[in-house]
Amino acid sequence: MRRTLEVTEALRLLDGGPVVLVTTRWRDQTDVMPAIWTTPLSRRPPLVGVVVHPSRHTHDMIRFAEQFALNFPARDLMNHTHYFGAVSGREVEKLDLSKLETFGAAKIDAPLIGGCIAYIECGLEDALRVGDHTLFVGRVLVVQAESDSFDETWLVGDPEYRPLHYLGMDRYSVLEERLQAELRTTDEGAIEMAETAEERERREEEEARERERAEREGEEG
Ligand SMILES: Cc1cc2nc3c(=O)[nH]c(=O)nc-3n(C[C@H](O)[C@H](O)[C@H](O)COP(=O)(O)O)c2cc1C
Repeated sequence: MRRTLEVTEALRLLDGGPVVLVTTRWRDQTDVMPAIWTTPLSRRPPLVGVVVHPSRHTHDMIRFAEQFALNFPARDLMNHTHYFGAVSGREVEKLDLSKLETFGAAKIDAPLIGGCIAYIECGLEDALRVGDHTLFVGRVLVVQAESDSFDETWLVGDPEYRPLHYLGMDRYSVLEERLQAELRTTDEGAIEMAETAEERERREEEEARERERAEREGEEG
């Protein structure tokens, strides 16, 4: 059964990308907040976007520092991630209180969070008001990733090295399986449907039955 939802549910349907922890430093203050409204924007120059509500302390931190880092947590940091999204850096020094280890970024002042599986360091290229949020456009300066997590694509191997995904409310997920698409077309250019695992099983069973029947008939005849 298909249901019509509130228009704001469109945003939730698009949720599910890897969660990032946006870290910032401005003078002697640091902040961290989880974000899932992120997007690739350009290959050359390399630009990525993170969409932040003006009420977030991180919003001011990015504006002042003109830099930010995206840290990719795996599932062992899920509760920390949720905590970072529940309190504001305006009230508490979240990173200090979390006792998580941090280390220096290569090109920016924002700290990087130890134990994450990938990092993107960005300089602020632009800030665009979009509806009730701000799209911060970051120029990618440095990218690092754990080799057990990423090699041209997310590997989806060891569960501890998979990125964390956010589904909304207090629900998170991790990728289950990496699939490989097969592109087969007919002479006319139409897609030739690849067999599903179920269809293959059915075909193989049918073929085995067919062989048995032929053997029986051979013996009888
Ligand atoms: C998993 C998760 C993802 C979130 N994604 C975003 C986001 O993309 N943009 C945003 O403005 N807020 C997002 N939030 C809310 C902020 O992280 C939250 O308001 C946070 O407490 C802000 O911290 P700050 O005031 O220290 O910047 C998210 C929260 C969670 C738990």
